[in-house]
Amino acid sequence: MTEQTDAPTADGPQGGQRPRISVIGTGYLGATHAAAMAELGFDVVGVDVDPAKVAALSAGEVPFYEPGLPELLVRGVESGRLRFTTDLAEAAAFADVHFVCVGTPQRPGSNGADLRYVEAAFEGLAHHLTHDALLVGKSTVPVGTAARLAARVRETAPAGLRVELAWNPEFLREGKAVADTLTPDRVVVGGATTWGEDLLRAVYARSLAAGTPFIATDLPTAELVKVSANAFLATKISFINAISQVCDRAGADVTVLADALGHDVRIGRQFLNAGLGFGGGCLPKDIRALMHRAGELGADSLVALMQDVDEINMWQRQRVIDMAVQTCGGSVLNRRIGVLGAAFKPDTDDVRDSPALNVAAGLHLRGAQVVVYDPEAGETSRRIFPSLTYGTSTEEAVADADVVLVLTEWPVFRTADPKALLSRARPGATVIDARNCLPADAWREAGWTYRGLGAAR
Ligand code: UDX
Repeated sequence: MTEQTDAPTADGPQGGQRPRISVIGTGYLGATHAAAMAELGFDVVGVDVDPAKVAALSAGEVPFYEPGLPELLVRGVESGRLRFTTDLAEAAAFADVHFVCVGTPQRPGSNGADLRYVEAAFEGLAHHLTHDALLVGKSTVPVGTAARLAARVRETAPAGLRVELAWNPEFLREGKAVADTLTPDRVVVGGATTWGEDLLRAVYARSLAAGTPFIATDLPTAELVKVSANAFLATKISFINAISQVCDRAGADVTVLADALGHDVRIGRQFLNAGLGFGGGCLPKDIRALMHRAGELGADSLVALMQDVDEINMWQRQRVIDMAVQTCGGSVLNRRIGVLGAAFKPDTDDVRDSPALNVAAGLHLRGAQVVVYDPEAGETSRRIFPSLTYGTSTEEAVADADVVLVLTEWPVFRTADPKALLSRARPGATVIDARNCLPADAWREAGWTYRGLGAAR
C-alpha cells in the first residue's frame, strides 16, 4: 500500500489538516508505530535519544529483527512522510498528536517499573510545545502514573495552549508487530475529552471503519487493561506449565490435554503451550510491576497470584536444566550439549529475559560444552553471554552432542530431519523438546531418545 486515499481527515489542532504525528521512543513499539502511521498516510516524525538508532532508521534500516517492518519503514522514509530526529523540540513544533512509546524496564533491585524515560518524554514534550497538542501514552505503566503525568504536563506546558493527555495502551506482539499495529484487536483510550477522542478516532480511522472495537474509558482503567492482559496471558502459561508437572508424574500428555481444553471457547487454545515458559521484554517485567503496584494499593490477592505465576514460570527453566543434568547421569561437566534457540520466542532476535538463553547459560556455568544456534538471535545473545559458543547452523549445534535441547520453537527446528541430525550427534543422543514442538514419533523412529515436558508420548 502506498498513498491512503481514504485516510482520516479530522481537523488537527492546527486546523484544516489531518493530525501530524510524533512518536517518542523508537524501540520495537515506537519504530513500528511510527512506520505504521506513515503507511496509513500521516506525516510522522520519530524521536529517539540514541543518535545511532535515528541514523539507522533514517537510512531505512531497522536496528532489530521484526518481520515486515523493514519494508514498511523504507516505504515511509521514501515517501517523505516519515523521518527521525533526536530533537524533541522539533517534534513538539511539528506534531499535533504525540505518542510516547519509551521503555518502562524493571527498576534495578526492585519489582517496580522504572518510569524515568516516560516522565522525561512527557515533561520534555510539554516544555517544548508551541501549539495545541494531544499527548498520548502508549508505554506500559503502573496504574496511577498517567494521572500524575497529566498534572505535571498541565504545570509544564506553556499557558494558553490546549494540551491534553490520554492513555492508549499498545498490545503488539514482537514478531507480529506490523500486523498488530495496522490491524489491532481493539483500541483502548483512557482519559480523553471529546476533542482528544476525535483526534484518536481520526488516527485509527481505518481500523475503526473495519469494525475494530473502540473502548473509551478513564486513565486508570486504560492503564490497567494493558497490564491485566499481560498478567492473564502469563497466568495461562503458568497454569498449563503447572498442569504439565502433574502430567509428568501421572503419565498424561499435556499437549493433548491443552488441545482438548482449547475446544472450550471459554478457555481457548492460545497461550496453553506448556514448555520453558514466558520471557521477553514485557510479560516478566509487567507481572512484577503489577505485583509491586498491587502491593502498594493493598490488593494482596493479586500480589499472591502474580508471585505464584512468576515462580512457576522461573521454575520451568530449572526443570529443563534438571532434565539435562539427569539425562547426562547427574552431571553435565564436559558433556557436549547442543542448544537450538536463544530468542525468547520465534520470529524475533530479542533475548531480553529469554528462558532459552538462561538455560543455555545455566548449563554452561555447570561445566557443559554448550553450542547454541538461533536463526536470528546469535548476535544479540553474544552481546549478553559472550562466553557461550555460537554455531551458525542446526547441524553445527548438534554435532557430537550427548544431549540436544530445543528451547525456542523456530520452524527450522520443528521441520528439521531427525535422521540426518542423529548422524551428526553422539550415538544414543537424547533430545529434550522444551517447547513440545517437535514431532515426537518421527524423532523416536529416527533413533533419538525423546523427552518433552509433560509429554507422555
Ligand atoms: C506480549 C503480549 O502478548 C503483547 O500483547 C504485549 O503487547 C507485549 O507482551 P510478546 O512479549 O511479544 O507480547 O510475546 P508473546 O507472544 O506474548 O509471548 C511471551 C512469552 O510467552 C514467550 O516467551 C513465549 O514463548 C511464551 N509462551 C507463549 C509460552 O510459553 N506458551 C504459550 O502458549 C504462549
